[in-house]
Amino acid sequence: MQIMISEIKNWMKDAGEIIKEALKKEGLTVDTKTSRKDLVTNLDKQTQDYLIKQILAFDPNAKILGEENGKDQLTDLSGRVFIIDPIDGTMNFVLEHENFCIMIAVYEEGQGVLGFVYDVMKEDFLWGGRDIGVFLNEERVPKPKDCALNEGLLGMNAVMYANNIGNARIMGERSMGVRMSGCAGVELMGMALGKRVGYVSNLAPWDYAAGGILIQALGMKMSNLYGKPLQMNGREQFIAGTPQVYEELLTLSMESLK
Ligand code: IPD
Ligand code: CA
Ligand code: CA
Repeated sequence: MQIMISEIKNWMKDAGEIIKEALKKEGLTVDTKTSRKDLVTNLDKQTQDYLIKQILAFDPNAKILGEENGKDQLTDLSGRVFIIDPIDGTMNFVLEHENFCIMIAVYEEGQGVLGFVYDVMKEDFLWGGRDIGVFLNEERVPKPKDCALNEGLLGMNAVMYANNIGNARIMGERSMGVRMSGCAGVELMGMALGKRVGYVSNLAPWDYAAGGILIQALGMKMSNLYGKPLQMNGREQFIAGTPQVYEELLTLSMESLK
């Protein structure tokens, strides 16, 4: 396990260096996917290819689920699965040059074992798992306090907030304030570090896999908007929070169905 952890960290830091170097030069190729707001760059694709090459050299039997390059479907989670978001927050990457992450989760026989979220520009590396605890760079992360919704900031998806999906606007009003970073990795890292009490969004498996392992290892909860386990298959409306906040969010989303 230790060898795998240090390998994964090295691959992700190397990928981060490549991304930083590329940002200094001209020539980012930006394409759209499903809409004008759904971007992919040459760096998203290159980073995923690079990570997959390293993973398969380390473990040729590993399965891969990754956002780009046609690797986004995997129904069988048996064995060891690496779940990759090569750049989470591509819009921020393109327009802000910050607030984006590289993320890898390791699943074994359908269970999340290790999560890695690397905020490339801040060089904040959050990693760990249920059995080993959670670390920011090399410092152990303490379990955040079990705050209530009215005690902290709530990470939020803009579309869900604007349309009050699942009572998202009321969730926001009950909190100390809503934050919309546009990067699931930043939000989930924020929860792990006690800067957010919860997060409401619409996410694909590679958006929540790594961060989800980490926040759960710290005693937080996550599910789909209506309390069902996440399916690891396709986009889902998502809630996560401290135990208290999770219950408050779930109560509000269920009330929206009445
Ligand atoms: C997106 C970001 C965003 C979330 C979207 C994701 P991407 O990831 O995490 O915060 O609201 O649902 O798709 O596409 O930039 O990797
Ligand atoms: Ca993402
Ligand atoms: Ca991505």
